[in-house]
Amino acid sequence: MNKDSFSVIILAAGRGVRMKSSLPKVLHPVAGSPMILRISDQAKAAGASEVRVVVGYGENLVRAVVEPSGATCFKQLEQKGTADAVLAAQPGTLEGPVLILNGDHPLIEAADIKRVFEDFKNGQGGITLVTAELKHPGSYGRIVRSNGELKAIVEAKDASADTLKIREVNTGIYMLDAELLNKLLPQISNANAQKEFYLTDIISLSIDNGIPVSTVTLKPHVAAGVNSQEELAMATKKLFRRKAKALMADGVLMLDPSTTYVEDRVQIGASSVLYPGVYIRGGTKLGSFCVVEPGSFLNNVICEDSVQIKAGCYLEDCVIKTKAVIGPYARLRPETEIGKEARVGNFVEMKKVKFGDGAKAGHLTYLGDAEIGDGTNIGCGTITCNYAADKKKYKTKIGKNVFVGSDTQFVAPISVGDDAVIGSGSTITKDVPAKALAVARGKQFVKENYVPKTPKQEG
Ligand code: UD1
Ligand code: CA
Repeated sequence: MNKDSFSVIILAAGRGVRMKSSLPKVLHPVAGSPMILRISDQAKAAGASEVRVVVGYGENLVRAVVEPSGATCFKQLEQKGTADAVLAAQPGTLEGPVLILNGDHPLIEAADIKRVFEDFKNGQGGITLVTAELKHPGSYGRIVRSNGELKAIVEAKDASADTLKIREVNTGIYMLDAELLNKLLPQISNANAQKEFYLTDIISLSIDNGIPVSTVTLKPHVAAGVNSQEELAMATKKLFRRKAKALMADGVLMLDPSTTYVEDRVQIGASSVLYPGVYIRGGTKLGSFCVVEPGSFLNNVICEDSVQIKAGCYLEDCVIKTKAVIGPYARLRPETEIGKEARVGNFVEMKKVKFGDGAKAGHLTYLGDAEIGDGTNIGCGTITCNYAADKKKYKTKIGKNVFVGSDTQFVAPISVGDDAVIGSGSTITKDVPAKALAVARGKQFVKENYVPKTPKQEG
């Protein structure tokens, strides 16, 4: 066993009744990522060699989320308490230091976990217990001391009025050697009001047996457990704040960080500007000097430098190259790539489009399954008719420097060569060669003096 490594057991079998939701508590998203996944990712980032997740309620859903990230799941058949949950993770098959975490503390960071491991390594063996000082200790287990020396953890529901006044709480994080864990766990009983096997009893057992217990007091965010929707919202807000701070520290300009929502994995280059009311999700990456105006939603969007996203845009799974300008009120759907210095204006929707460098679609346009060449101008009201009566999708290919007049429909599959001109109001059903002019609209019919003279009024 490598002394520089440790394994982790995350307790996540409970339903989380107080959430009043059928989704397992640990799958509730905190700033975009299910809380259990966040915790297991932070554990791995801190150097954990193995992550075991104890599952129970909604087992298959939890497995589907955590297993792809490399964690192993262990089933707790009945939720008989936190000590029983640890037992379900088969600690008998572990060696070396074991860190126990609750699956409902999403604000924990890799740095906190590293700190616990350091303390454990520097301690006298035994158990390292993580505590926090809270202004409002609420339903957390209280750390009871006598002359500064740890005596016990008392659950709030079992505590006297005096004990409830204690502000130092149990964060539910413990580190100890697997061997010691396996010795103590079977000794925990369920002789309490709740008839549960409390993991917290491991502390009083150790004290009774003269096993050293050291405490490390970390910042309150480590203790922030999520047991209700309100606590979930608070944790989410904290993560958004944390991300905003980190971005600003890296030179991102935020006009109002408290109303700007950027998820953890998002990367933004220095000197980019985020207006209030922006929501940026997933694996989005913005370069430097980008601007995102109010009311825009970006999910998995890759922007090179100096891209402008004007107000009210909805962008997902697309790539936008340098100096392109998008919006206001544009919608870019998956597999769309916007070329350098291109312009996509208001009420333009694109899906699976490769839009060339310097190309323009300024107003009221739908482009789907299309390739638009460099420098081409798409007039207002242009539509690619990509979806046919056979329920299949067909492609539209428009070359470079094409001028498409307003109110044109391209009935796909269709292609237009470079430098062609399409007369406005056309419904294009046949391919147009390079440099050609195509007009496909009803001829204008003019009948002069059509409007009858108004008869003279009598009297
Ligand atoms: C627990 C601690 C409390 C501490 C608090 C920190 C105990 C007895 N109490 O209380 O001292 O202040 O965490 O948040 O440990 N779980 C299982 N199987 C079970 C029971 C629970 O997997 O049979 C999981 C839950 O899904 C949850 C975690 O263990 O992720 C903690 O359980 P929870 O019921 O939320 O414990 P608390 O009452 O918050
Ligand atoms: Ca809890």
